[in-house]
Amino acid sequence: MSSNRIYFFDTTLRDGEQSPGVSLNIKEKLEIARQLTRLGVDVIEAGFPIASPGDFAAVQAIAREIRGATIAALARANQLDIDRAWEAIREAEEPRIHTFIATSDIHLQYKLQKSREEVLAQAVEAVKYACRYTPNVEFSAEDAFRSDIDYLAQVVTAVIDAGAKVVNIPDTVGYATPEEFGAFIRELREKVPNRDQAIFSVHCHNDLGLAVANSLAAILAGAQQVECTINGIGERAGNAALEEIVMALYTRRSIFQKEFRIVTEEIYRTSRLVSALTGMKVQPNKAVVGKNAFAHESGIHQDGVLKNRATYEIMNPELIGLHKNTIVLGKHSGRHAFRDRLQQLGYQLEGEQLEQAFQRFKELADRKGEISDEDLLVIVEGEILRV
Ligand code: KIV
Ligand code: ZN
Repeated sequence: MSSNRIYFFDTTLRDGEQSPGVSLNIKEKLEIARQLTRLGVDVIEAGFPIASPGDFAAVQAIAREIRGATIAALARANQLDIDRAWEAIREAEEPRIHTFIATSDIHLQYKLQKSREEVLAQAVEAVKYACRYTPNVEFSAEDAFRSDIDYLAQVVTAVIDAGAKVVNIPDTVGYATPEEFGAFIRELREKVPNRDQAIFSVHCHNDLGLAVANSLAAILAGAQQVECTINGIGERAGNAALEEIVMALYTRRSIFQKEFRIVTEEIYRTSRLVSALTGMKVQPNKAVVGKNAFAHESGIHQDGVLKNRATYEIMNPELIGLHKNTIVLGKHSGRHAFRDRLQQLGYQLEGEQLEQAFQRFKELADRKGEISDEDLLVIVEGEILRV
């Protein structure tokens, strides 16, 4: 394991799917999992198998088909959840059981109604039990950032001794600020004597809009895995956005000096796919993948960019797979150009769906002349939602 390597753990299909109003079927989850593999994520958290028979079936289908990424399943720290998680992922090329329990006093007192000693014992038992199935076990201390750091260090040390290969430190309620979170991770690592026997991971929520900044601060403090979602979707205000962490690590590489295996050119395509299938629109001014992220409106900016892109662009849009339109689509364009352009935008329409979308494109081209990417997205997303 290189100390410079950052592992990307994508939880779009688990924490991301916990976004209010989002529910993906098996086919959609598989489609996203395939695209996450092309994107090069190290771990796909495919779901929470005990949560429902549908979730179990989706995790199992992903474990059976997907190759080239670790497939993780979530389980509370009890035998029933762990058995179910293992059953769902056992056919994966590289399965991982991800078990968790809260460690903050507020969760212990009101949610779990357990003492610190009881939770410590349960965490160790759960990790040992999961290790009977696979050595690839991750332990998460839910609400870690609001936990007493000495107690958290005791839990983390004990679960590493019990066999956990990854220990995840979530800021479950998005309460931390970057300076604090970086210092917290640094101090925690110092308090864990067997720290070199496990990968330290972080999992930041975005309640104060700081999830990405907190994840980056944690990386500078020694975290080696980041948990994140595409477009930052997830519970409440969401999770850290994968595309923002990746592009910060890349664009400011002289600061971070980290390696990762994400294929940045797949970012835009992945973002569009997740947006279309979850129905969660990406805000236009969203960093990296928003519609306006590379648009220049004011005359001064346009003039600067025409003279030299670097005047107002810190990233080349092609790096995230956003190709500036060189072929203008209009009423004379054929199916081939139409289909190619859709593929660049992240959509693979076939058969009847392609035909219907093409007809709508032709009708619009007759009225409008030139068809923009935004027009195409309206057409194609309308077509996908119709089935
Ligand atoms: O936010 C959180 O604490 C979680 C854990 C289950 C990892 O999602
Ligand atoms: Zn979470």
